[in-house]
Amino acid sequence: MRNVRNVALGLVGAAAVASASDVHDLKKDTFTDFVKSHSLVLAEFFAPWCGHCKALAPEYEEAATTLKEKDIPLVKIDCVEEAELCKEYGVEGYPTVKVFRGPDNASPYQGQRKAPAIISYMTKQALPAVSNLTSETFEEFKTADQVVVVAFFEAGDKTSNTTFSEVAESMRDDHLFGASNDAKLAEAEGVKFPSVVLYKSFDEGKNIFEEKFEKEAITKFTKTSAMPLVGEVGPETYAGYMAAGIPLAYIFAETPEERAELAAELKPLAEKHKGVISFATIDAKAFGAHAGNLNLEDGKWPAFAIQETVKNQKFPFDQAKKLTHDDVGAFVQDFVDGKVDPSIKSEPIPEKQEGPVQTVVALNYKDIVLDNEKDVLLEFYAPWCGHCKALAPKFEELASMYPAGGKVTVAKVDATVNDVPDEIQGFPTIKLFPAGGKEEPITYSGSRTIEDLAEFIKENGKYKVDAFDGKNETADDTEAPLAEGMGEAAKAATETAKSVASDAAEAVKTAVTDTDGTDDGSEHDEL
Ligand SMILES: *[C@@H]1O[C@H](CO)[C@@H](O)[C@H](O)[C@H]1NC(C)=O
Ligand SMILES: *[C@@H]1O[C@H](CO)[C@@H](O)[C@H](O)[C@H]1NC(C)=O
Ligand SMILES: *[C@@H]1O[C@H](CO)[C@@H](O)[C@H](O)[C@H]1NC(C)=O
Repeated sequence: MRNVRNVALGLVGAAAVASASDVHDLKKDTFTDFVKSHSLVLAEFFAPWCGHCKALAPEYEEAATTLKEKDIPLVKIDCVEEAELCKEYGVEGYPTVKVFRGPDNASPYQGQRKAPAIISYMTKQALPAVSNLTSETFEEFKTADQVVVVAFFEAGDKTSNTTFSEVAESMRDDHLFGASNDAKLAEAEGVKFPSVVLYKSFDEGKNIFEEKFEKEAITKFTKTSAMPLVGEVGPETYAGYMAAGIPLAYIFAETPEERAELAAELKPLAEKHKGVISFATIDAKAFGAHAGNLNLEDGKWPAFAIQETVKNQKFPFDQAKKLTHDDVGAFVQDFVDGKVDPSIKSEPIPEKQEGPVQTVVALNYKDIVLDNEKDVLLEFYAPWCGHCKALAPKFEELASMYPAGGKVTVAKVDATVNDVPDEIQGFPTIKLFPAGGKEEPITYSGSRTIEDLAEFIKENGKYKVDAFDGKNETADDTEAPLAEGMGEAAKAATETAKSVASDAAEAVKTAVTDTDGTDDGSEHDEL
């Protein structure tokens, strides 16, 4: 009896604690309404198993209690139960914390995961996005950040006021926004009502917008004007440069001073080729390994290279030369005119093919892999990849089952030191290039056993060659027991290949955001 009562009391206590939480637990059917009815909401997307989420929980709870007084609600969403909702908001890791201003306006929370940081960040978020400027505050405000955006309009001009507020609201995490009705101030800045002036601590220092006062036009003006002519490649900017769809020119240098110096030297080139090539410096100390991807020698700084981001071709500038405006300028112009051949990284062509597996390098890729008379099975491997090593003896044996000089070639290429035109997602990657169908290689996704690989060649090759036809039958017996057990594991275990840059970027990103991944990577060998 006593026990029962204790348990019951315990339950009541737990329930009381749970309901006392100031963090709102939201679900798919409550989330949208909640976010619509509160102008500012901080939302945490979490998974019950996630360690970082557990560490955040008490801090989040504390912040929620304090921010409740300021009418800023904190909410949480369990992504195991509300997978669809989390997917809708692009949640890829846990915890993901976002600031919502209505259901369609979410921006990542960029503060630390501690109660005081959350409180301070959200308090700032609650301040108006646009500061009301006077002639006293104006000068200081102009230089308060690298980029500040100031609108000038009539005191009674509600339309311009609203338009500009909306722009500011959508970009408030990126820049400072201010507004003034002071006609004298506007005159001193050389503008009329209504207009926008963007002040920046680099390049031209100032850009003026005097077109029709519309949200889209002002947003575009702000984005383009705020972008430096010579930017910086780093974890936050790399994806943007890759997505821009135009070639990227890298300026590698070790110190910030050197980077600034070279950026100044090459800026006229960036101006000249604006919209055709992006120019950016890159920290050679932190991301020097990326030089290898551009076929530059790591360690010889400063260095310059252009990457054609769509076809992934590399055009390194001679590392023996100095990076001067004139020499680099001539090189860039030749590139634009199509006069520079892409650099192709390759091991030397082997003098003699040893063993049944043919060795492919960039320079003999065409002769071996694209030989239209043959069905070619090609393994893309990396020397450090454990699964590739495990596959090697089986691959040798598979190759030996096809007569030398016959219709089937089994080959391998070290994709870390040879530029191959194929998209590689992981190591090992195995593809069949059938005779007469070289443009459409077929990627192998089965288990890595001799039987299954041979079957794949038979099924998809032009000549339907069956390695197990006839006297090789017995090979089946010796390999099968091992194959059965290993099949599924091998299938799941493709190692992740990442370009060095995105790898470096990932490393930094992960270190900064410290987020548990949504997928359990335990079956993958990491780099
Ligand atoms: C904004 O500043 C103007 C002067 O530039 C002033 O007349 C106005 O009252 C201020 N508004 C607010 C809300 O502070
Ligand atoms: C814009 O409108 C808001 C709200 O009415 C007002 O507080 C603010 O002073 C206005 N800004 C300017 C520069 O007139
Ligand atoms: C298959 O047969 C050939 C000879 O016809 C032989 O050289 C090869 O070693 C055999 N392969 C296996 C796996 O037994």
